[in-house]
Amino acid sequence: MDPVALYSRLAANGPPLFFPDPPSPVTFNLDQGIPAEETFPVEDLKRLAGQILDTDGPRALEYISFGYEDDEDRILYLATYIELVLGYTGLRDELAKWMTGREGREFGADNFILASGSVQAIALAINAFVDPGDGVLVEAASFPYAIRYMEMREADVRSVAIDSEGVDVEDLERQILAMKADGVRPKLMYVIPTFQLPTCVQTPLARRERLLELAEEHEIVVLEDNIYGDLRYEGESLPTLLSLDRSGLVLQSHGFSKIVAPALRIGWVCGDEKMIEGLAGVRQDLGVSQWLARMMAAFMAEGKLDPHIAMVNDVYRHRRDTAIAAVREHCGDFVRFDVPQGGFYLWLELDDAVDWDQVGPRAAENGVMCRPGERFMADGDSRRFLRLAYSHASEAELVRGIEALGAAIRSAAKAPAGN
Ligand SMILES: Cc1ncc(COP(=O)(O)O)c(C=O)c1O
Repeated sequence: MDPVALYSRLAANGPPLFFPDPPSPVTFNLDQGIPAEETFPVEDLKRLAGQILDTDGPRALEYISFGYEDDEDRILYLATYIELVLGYTGLRDELAKWMTGREGREFGADNFILASGSVQAIALAINAFVDPGDGVLVEAASFPYAIRYMEMREADVRSVAIDSEGVDVEDLERQILAMKADGVRPKLMYVIPTFQLPTCVQTPLARRERLLELAEEHEIVVLEDNIYGDLRYEGESLPTLLSLDRSGLVLQSHGFSKIVAPALRIGWVCGDEKMIEGLAGVRQDLGVSQWLARMMAAFMAEGKLDPHIAMVNDVYRHRRDTAIAAVREHCGDFVRFDVPQGGFYLWLELDDAVDWDQVGPRAAENGVMCRPGERFMADGDSRRFLRLAYSHASEAELVRGIEALGAAIRSAAKAPAGN
C-alpha cells in the first residue's frame, strides 16, 4: 500500500480533512478536535473491563444480552431484538437518568438509541428523516461529516447565516420560505447551538426559542448536535433545544467521545420515542459493543461521569487560556477572535493585511497543521478563517505550535496590519 497515493484518493472523495496536504513532518497538530489523552480514565476503564467480564461473563461479548432462559418466550425474544437496534438497555437507562436530571424533562431508555459515535447517530437521523430532494438547513459553517451524509442522501442542503450569536433566526426563516417557494420540502435542520463547530459560539435563549417556533410552524425535524455542550469552562449553561422542545420534533445527538474517550465509539440520539423508532428502522449494523456499553453503564452508575467532566473542563480551560495568551503574543494584530466559553477551538479571523494564499503553505513549512475555515462551509465561499484546535497538544507544544503559526502568518503579511 502506498499511503501517499491512498491518502490522495481518499482525500479527493472523502470528507475534507487536511489543508493543503498534511505538512511533512507535522510537528504541531492544531488541526483535529481530539481530546487530551491524559484525561482518559484509563484505570477506571481497565477495572470496569475486567469487572464486567467477571459479573456478566459471555453475555458481555454477545451481540445482545440474552436475558432469558426460555426461547419460547416471544416477548422476551422481541425485547432482545429491541436491544439490538436501540443498544444495551442498562446504558440507555443510565443515560435517561443523567439526561432527566439536567434537561428538566423525563426520559426513559426508549428515548435513546446508541450508535457508533455520534457521527453514526447523525447519519441515522439523516437517513431516517431525509429523502432525496428534501431540504436540509445547516449553519453556514458546520460539521463537514454531517454535511457529507446529507449530500450522500441527495438532500438539498442550504446554509443559514451565523454570527457571533450563532444561528441568525431571521435568515433561517428566509431560507425556509425560499426553500418552500422553490418547491422543496424543508425536512431537517442540523444545528450545533452550544460551542458551535467550528466557531465555538453559543446561540442565546431567545434565538433558540425562535428557532423552535419556526421548526414547529413548518414541521421541521431539528437535530441538535450537543457533542461540545458539556465542555463549558465558564458562564451559565443555556437550555438545550431538547429541553425547550414541546413539539417532539427535536432530536439531540451526543456521545462520550469528547467528554470521556473517542475510542469507545459510543454516541446516542435522545428524543421522542416515535422519532427514535424512526432511527432504529434505518439501522443497518448490529449495534454497539455490549462490553463497552456495559462498562460505560457501570461508569455512570458509579457516579463517575459528572466528576470526570468537571476534571476535563479544568484541563481544557487551562489549555484554552494558554492558547489565547500565545495567539495574542505571536499572532498579535493579524488575527481577531472571540474568547469561547467552552469547546475545543479558537476561530481566528485573519486580517486583510495577511496574504491568505500564503498562510497554508507557510504554516506547513513550519510544521503546523491547522484547519482553514472554508473546510467547514457548505458553499465553500468563506476564506480568511483558521480553526485552531487547542484540545490535544500539550501546553508546551501548544505554545511552540502557535509561535510557529504566528511566524507563518507574520511572514505572509503584505504590510503591517492597519496600514
Ligand atoms: C460537531 C461534531 N459532531 C459530532 C462529532 C463526532 O463525534 P463522535 O462520532 O466521535 O461521537 C464531532 C467530532 O469531531 C463533531 O465535531
